[in-house]
Amino acid sequence: MKPRILVTRRWPDAVERLLAERFDTTFNQDDKALSAAELSEALEQFDAVLPTVSDKLPASVFAQTAVRTRLLANFGVGFSHIDIEAARARGITVTNTPGVLTDCTADIALSLLLAVARRAGEGERQLRAGDWKGWCPTHMIGAKVSGKTIGIIGMGRIGKATAKRAHFGFDMKVVFYNRSKVDDEAVRTMGARQLDSVEAVLAEADFVSLHCPGGAENRHLINAARLKAMKPGAFLINTARGDVIDQQALVEALESGVIAGAGLDVYDGEPAVPAALTSLDNVVLLPHLGSATEETRVAMGMRAVDNLTAFFEGRAVPDRVA
Ligand code: DGY
Repeated sequence: MKPRILVTRRWPDAVERLLAERFDTTFNQDDKALSAAELSEALEQFDAVLPTVSDKLPASVFAQTAVRTRLLANFGVGFSHIDIEAARARGITVTNTPGVLTDCTADIALSLLLAVARRAGEGERQLRAGDWKGWCPTHMIGAKVSGKTIGIIGMGRIGKATAKRAHFGFDMKVVFYNRSKVDDEAVRTMGARQLDSVEAVLAEADFVSLHCPGGAENRHLINAARLKAMKPGAFLINTARGDVIDQQALVEALESGVIAGAGLDVYDGEPAVPAALTSLDNVVLLPHLGSATEETRVAMGMRAVDNLTAFFEGRAVPDRVA
């Protein structure tokens, strides 16, 4: 008998076709995010559940007695929406999809960086509203990007890919903070300097780009004090997870000019975005688009299929996180 699996959201067609061939698959035709109660029920009914970032799986979801699920094959590299300890305690293996979304997420980080520094969002809004009065020497002056310093917080795959684009594309100097030592060919070729603390990076960087995991360990890593520790005129970019920033403190820093601007792809409590953010002009806001390309979303799905297939064939899963 084929394993019974649940795909919690719509996935790219090619991946859904493959899942339907290999497994007894239930799809979410409506593509509506499941509630906690529905996710709990799914753990009782399916051999594997394939969640993604819009599915919250705290310890309470795992608390019911009869868990049938043996694998959570997450669609995405970040897994802070899953209580890993609770999954482990119920004997559930958890996998993710690393590597395949590195380039596209780094591309979005650079898009945000350029858009906020050069006021692209503001400019587009002005033009579409019919308010552009024509070229003049003082119109919508932004900040130069080329040659500035980028500070990377979390020098993993995506941090390095972002730094690489900034350095080789825009001649930027790279400083970074990472908990463990990073000293590889990629970092050496960019002449990137690892600094001892987040504060040391904030003191040097004109652009700070976040690439660390979300969840308890990094919750509000960027708080009011650290926003104040950024250089005057600096910009903050977040393509990691919304909870890494204290959103209220960010709003205050943007309103008061403590920092010059921010580019955000992720939010604490998304899809809700505070009105205080959407009403500000010095922030560029994207709806969690980091991995949203045809190539990457298919690759993420195929990676999850590889994990599922290996698991149910009794082989080691390639991307185990628990
Ligand atoms: C990821 O893979 O973590 C992206 O943010 C999409 O979930």
